[in-house]
Amino acid sequence: MSMARLRAAASLLPKRGRIADVGAGDGALSLLLAAEAEHVQVIATEAASGPYARLAAACRGEARIALRFGSGLSPLRGERLDAIAVLGMGASTILQILEGAAEHPGTLFVLGPMQHTPVLRRGLRERSLAIVDERLAVEGERVYELIAARIAPSPPLSWLDQQLGPVVRRTHPPGFARLCEQRLRLLRARLRGAKGSLHLELEGHIRAIEEEYDGPRDA
Ligand SMILES: C[S@@+](CC[C@H](N)C(=O)[O-])C[C@H]1O[C@@H](n2cnc3c(N)ncnc32)[C@H](O)[C@@H]1O
Repeated sequence: MSMARLRAAASLLPKRGRIADVGAGDGALSLLLAAEAEHVQVIATEAASGPYARLAAACRGEARIALRFGSGLSPLRGERLDAIAVLGMGASTILQILEGAAEHPGTLFVLGPMQHTPVLRRGLRERSLAIVDERLAVEGERVYELIAARIAPSPPLSWLDQQLGPVVRRTHPPGFARLCEQRLRLLRARLRGAKGSLHLELEGHIRAIEEEYDGPRDA
């Protein structure tokens, strides 16, 4: 359990209003929000019966947390929500859940993919979601990326924006150097087996990230 990741997500969420925690797992984010923000009501959802039972046990007695069983955004149909958090899943699961995002036009979505964040950033635009804020959370060797998005027109993201995040690129928060190193490691591993035009393309991508990252800032 990474508290840095949950705290970074909480920092993107409103401090009052109605917030849903989709796929709440053991309820750590819901409990954090209920404990820290007096004017917050949380709806914690789970799609699997084992985790739902654990969630119910963890949140028992919490007046500010309501529970719903069901997949994705379906248990939230008809709800007016200030924010919806979807954390701790892969990019493709999050994108599947966001198929229903247009039913929540004024809502802030806070997303915490465990992997393939560039795929998630690309998919957001296809679901009419625009990135409005981002955070990084560092825990040991790992950098977690958190994204806030709303239903709004969004320009296409450049390859570098997809990789590193448009807000992260502008603000260079703590963890930025480590994120660049993480991306470079993956690209260099792919480069070793690549030939021809793919090799050239990967070399270009590596150069682009090296130019963006001009040495350790936060080591
Ligand atoms: C790794 S846990 C993450 C828990 C918590 N959100 C966190 O970030 O610590 C992922 C949880 O998402 C739930 N889940 C996966 N797909 C879901 C979906 N489509 N709708 C609701 N919950 C889902 C799983 O049952 C699991 O409990």
